[in-house]
Amino acid sequence: MTAVISATGLWTPKDSISNKELVTAFNAWSEKWNAQHADEIAAGTLEAKPLSSAEFVFKASGIKSRFVISKDPILDPDIMAPRIPERGDEDISVLAEIAVAAARDALAKTGRDAKDVDAVIVACSNLQRAYPAIAIEVQDALGIDGFAFDMNVACSSATFGIETARGLIASGAAKSVLVCNPEICSAHLNFKDRDSHFIFGDVATAILVEDESIAPTGAWEILGTKLGTKFSNNIRNNFGFLNTAAPQGVGADDKLFMQNGRRVFKEVVPLVASMISEELENIGIATSQIKRMWLHQANLSMNTLIAKKVMGKDVDMDIAPVVLDEYANTSSAGSIIAFDKHSADFTPGDTGLICSFGAGYSAGVVVVRKT
Ligand SMILES: CC(C)(COP(=O)(O)OP(=O)(O)OC[C@H]1O[C@@H](n2cnc3c(N)ncnc32)[C@H](O)[C@@H]1OP(=O)(O)O)[C@@H](O)C(=O)NCCC(=O)NCCS
Repeated sequence: MTAVISATGLWTPKDSISNKELVTAFNAWSEKWNAQHADEIAAGTLEAKPLSSAEFVFKASGIKSRFVISKDPILDPDIMAPRIPERGDEDISVLAEIAVAAARDALAKTGRDAKDVDAVIVACSNLQRAYPAIAIEVQDALGIDGFAFDMNVACSSATFGIETARGLIASGAAKSVLVCNPEICSAHLNFKDRDSHFIFGDVATAILVEDESIAPTGAWEILGTKLGTKFSNNIRNNFGFLNTAAPQGVGADDKLFMQNGRRVFKEVVPLVASMISEELENIGIATSQIKRMWLHQANLSMNTLIAKKVMGKDVDMDIAPVVLDEYANTSSAGSIIAFDKHSADFTPGDTGLICSFGAGYSAGVVVVRKT
């Protein structure tokens, strides 16, 4: 059985925060904190909080703005975090709701009835609760028979999800698998940390992976995939169910996203570039045949460097389209947004690759050809 990508779907929050708005809020919070702690700062027992800068954010990352589910509380210097009210157990959870919105977009593009889907995978960085699986809630909301499960490989969740779906199709366990990537990254971001407060945004994507025998015309044949992981503490979040068993650590900064960005940059770029090159060689595709690389969207310079290393020369960034300027880093969804928005010009036979990378470290490459 050959698996193809029949369609992708996208759900984007309506509110967006510009670098200027974000930095204004950060600096107001920082100045207030410094005023409140003026004596300790003067005595040298506390360090003053430095100011952030919109110019730095754009220059260091390529990010201009990010979409978020809960704008005002993030920009309120007295809150500096999203506020998403808890819902009753009988109401759909927010993560399932945005996954369903992206899934409906993918289903609508193919004319596929949800009843014809056999399995749902919710693959993302942050799952809202321990159980029941968000994927089973999505399955229920869409009226899908069969089975569903959650998986988390951080920023690489979507590519690992595609490969998992492909495996289910190859084994005959399913013919149509919906992979959803709901990412409410604003809720794991420390908006009081100058080094990272600008990095993430919220979004949801979905990928319909199907057996070619039932796929619509114009689907994307999966020519090859490569997954890899290598343990690193350079991107880490210690939030988890054991936190309440160590109450002194509840609410500490390490229960949100933390990273050593410089190390990540240096270590991940060569890892990803060689992984892409190895996979292309493995399946006998020359780099000259690659029309586009839909790369993970974390940092513009990182993507420029990866594209250059893979192609062996400076390249026009049309080959690796950028969505992080508008969306920021949306974890597993980033490469899928790029694919969703920048693949309409492909004609049958055109080849490209989806590539994710992030915490773990984890990286995934999916080479696709338009049919
Ligand atoms: C995070 C990242 C954008 C930071 O860019 P960078 O160029 O490495 O920046 P640095 O952290 O080295 O900081 C450079 C300087 O700017 C300062 N700075 C940091 N944040 C700042 C901010 N918001 N405003 C102004 N200055 C800032 C630093 O203090 C440092 O000052 P110094 O040179 O006086 O020490 C970049 O490292 C990155 O994107 N790395 C990859 C991250 C990634 O992909 N993570 C995966 C997440 S899934």
